[in-house]
Amino acid sequence: MHPRCLILISFNSLALFLTFFISFILFTIRIKSPYLAGSASECNIKLNTTSDQAHARFRLLIGILMRPDSYDRRHFLRLIYGIQSSPLAEIDVKFVFCNLTKPEQKTLVALEILRFNDIIILNCTENMNSGKTYTYFSSLPHILPRHYDYVMKADDDVFLRIEPLAASLEPLSRWDLYYGFVIPCPSMNPYVEYMSGMGFVLSWDIIEWIGKSEIPMNDQHGPEDKLVGRWLNLGGKARHRHTEKPGMYDYPGMNGRCSHELIPQTVAVHRLKRWDQWFRVLEFFNVTKELKHSKLNHF
Ligand SMILES: *[C@@H]1O[C@H](CO)[C@@H](O)[C@H](O)[C@H]1NC(C)=O
Ligand SMILES: *[C@@H]1O[C@H](CO)[C@@H](O)[C@H](O)[C@H]1NC(C)=O
Ligand SMILES: *[C@@H]1O[C@H](CO)[C@@H](O)[C@H](O)[C@H]1NC(C)=O
Ligand SMILES: *[C@@H]1O[C@H](CO)[C@@H](O)[C@H](O)[C@H]1NC(C)=O
Repeated sequence: MHPRCLILISFNSLALFLTFFISFILFTIRIKSPYLAGSASECNIKLNTTSDQAHARFRLLIGILMRPDSYDRRHFLRLIYGIQSSPLAEIDVKFVFCNLTKPEQKTLVALEILRFNDIIILNCTENMNSGKTYTYFSSLPHILPRHYDYVMKADDDVFLRIEPLAASLEPLSRWDLYYGFVIPCPSMNPYVEYMSGMGFVLSWDIIEWIGKSEIPMNDQHGPEDKLVGRWLNLGGKARHRHTEKPGMYDYPGMNGRCSHELIPQTVAVHRLKRWDQWFRVLEFFNVTKELKHSKLNHF
């Protein structure tokens, strides 16, 4: 058998094992502390909930825009973000879709909401580059119970490292901020062009502006990341800008000059399309190193 197949097979068994392991933990928690559907909000992916609301310097909402049918991807990302945290920030991760269209989605997504309460369903139609990002940002002030300091839009094929992300935002302005990976790839000047849709951050005042201004309202068709840059430039917004290079990039070999090798000071790796790429990234960043030996896990 081809060695790569072997690796894939062992990764699959590992994934299966992890799934059972995690179901076991969740099941145990469920039994120990039953809660009613009404309090499902406690189950939201809230990073480092127990400790530090009081010490956190800022609040960040990360909205991962994806399609409702990507159930497996969502499950995987819940693991990825459920085990990360930063003492610097109170961070909520939510999965963002346009409205549901298939009967089974209504049941399956309802189950997820009851269990995890980490989904935002917007009033729009799923279709790349036709206003989903506008609907996302412009809806937030109306639908969120409280405001955040920053809102991020991220893709579902990006791996975000929460601690370096929070550490890089912490010293920046809480106002009029536009943060990300500036396009074109070699550019280091965030004041021309725009931040890549892999993952960019806006301060809350800009979110409110997007919800009110006619500039974005009348300019919703086209590549969503490019549009955001254009709105801000036309509106004279985002006087504070930060491009997180080389900490954000495309997976090695994926995209010419936007790619480079994995480096320790990474905030985000984009274009993770295959399991072997995710696997390499998780290994490189020692994501599972903390796992303690236990009689329950014959690793
Ligand atoms: C949570 O935050 C506290 C206080 O800031 C910190 O000491 C602790 O290590 C954090 N826990 C994790 C899992 O990051
Ligand atoms: C949803 O969007 C449609 C078209 O954009 C609009 O006509 C409708 O009023 C919206 N519904 C709600 C509940 O906001
Ligand atoms: C989804 O949203 C779009 C745009 O608001 C609307 O035209 C459409 O009727 C909605 N579909 C459903 C099934 O609610
Ligand atoms: C991962 O762990 C190894 C061994 O402890 C260490 O040498 C390496 O620097 C770590 N990698 C990162 C990105 O922290």
